[in-house]
Amino acid sequence: MIPYAKQSIDESDIEAVCEVLRSEFLTTGPVVSLFERAVARRVAMPHAVAFSSGTAALHAALVAIGIGPGDEVIVPPITFVATANAVIYCGATPVFADVDPNTLLLDPQKVQQKITSATRAVIAVDYAGQPANYPALRAITDQHDLVLLADACHSLGAALNETPAGALADLSIFSFHPVKPITAGEGGMVMTGNPLYAERMMRFRNHGIDKDHSQRAALESWEYDMVELGYNYRLTDIQSALGLSQLKRLDEFTRRRGEIANRYLDGFSAQAGFSPLAVRAGVKHAYHLFVIKLHDAFEQQHRLALYRRLRSVGVGVNVHYRPVYNNRYYQTSVEPGDVLCPVAEQSYQRILSLPIYPSMVDADIQFVIDQVLMATDEILTVD
Ligand SMILES: Cc1ncc(COP(=O)(O)O)c(C=O)c1O
Repeated sequence: MIPYAKQSIDESDIEAVCEVLRSEFLTTGPVVSLFERAVARRVAMPHAVAFSSGTAALHAALVAIGIGPGDEVIVPPITFVATANAVIYCGATPVFADVDPNTLLLDPQKVQQKITSATRAVIAVDYAGQPANYPALRAITDQHDLVLLADACHSLGAALNETPAGALADLSIFSFHPVKPITAGEGGMVMTGNPLYAERMMRFRNHGIDKDHSQRAALESWEYDMVELGYNYRLTDIQSALGLSQLKRLDEFTRRRGEIANRYLDGFSAQAGFSPLAVRAGVKHAYHLFVIKLHDAFEQQHRLALYRRLRSVGVGVNVHYRPVYNNRYYQTSVEPGDVLCPVAEQSYQRILSLPIYPSMVDADIQFVIDQVLMATDEILTVD
């Protein structure tokens, strides 16, 4: 099976991890700081705080800006559940605003309509690796004095009008899960320009304790104080070594993902059954996912037929994502049958993610193109 995504690990990555295994620190030591500084430099942001996952990083970012019970945070429904779950971790309420039908990115107009006196923040998601419409979102968050966050878990390596993903919002969150633009096994990071947010997040990831081991060593004292409730959300030196090594390969990864996307765009240009998602002007896309949207001639069962047919010939297609609020857990807070976000619901019935990852070889790209063209043709003709 050609998977929809796959990590790319080479000998330099393995050697970097082995070096840490032979060193003094396994968990949070000097390599975590090196990794943080390297990502911060890469996206030109002053502060970076590493976490054990993108989900932990989202949670910490929301705590850092003071989100709590009674607050509302606007999120898109087409995202991984973690984006909205992090709001619930804080005791706050995720409010779903619909997406643009062509890009599946948060629609700024829909955000505007969801703002209430309880709204404190907006989390945009750089779905599939395309930065959201930050200039329009920024205008709204500025007008209403809200914090703008970027769930940039898909978009390390992308840019909008030359500004790198990670530097487009007040706080931006990366994930280093294996299928993401670079991996640390698991891991996440928050980028911010605000030193107070950074300081709070450093504490939050370490149980809410005011001094970590290196600060205590510098003060020649064992004492620490736990000043607020935090978690063990620390990234390890082992993971950071892998992340740091992968970061050196990010340009190569992004370039190859772009090449694969261009091959798909060329290969699909002459057919009428579906469209790849649109790319907005000024976007350098990271192509974490390559998503096609089936046209109206396809019914819901056709998408399932296409999914099964492609998987049966070894093309590991997938679907990203079912609207978050349609998950059973969320149905307690959403009235059954309520169509909160019609564009997201209609789009979900029609989307399919095709395989894309840096080590994908040309023959596999062509095989995917041929199989997708053949399968869509057959399904539309039979009907
Ligand atoms: C959009 C989005 N947000 C958040 C996350 C959570 O990241 P992690 O898996 O590192 O916790 C993911 C990753 O799966 C994601 O795709």
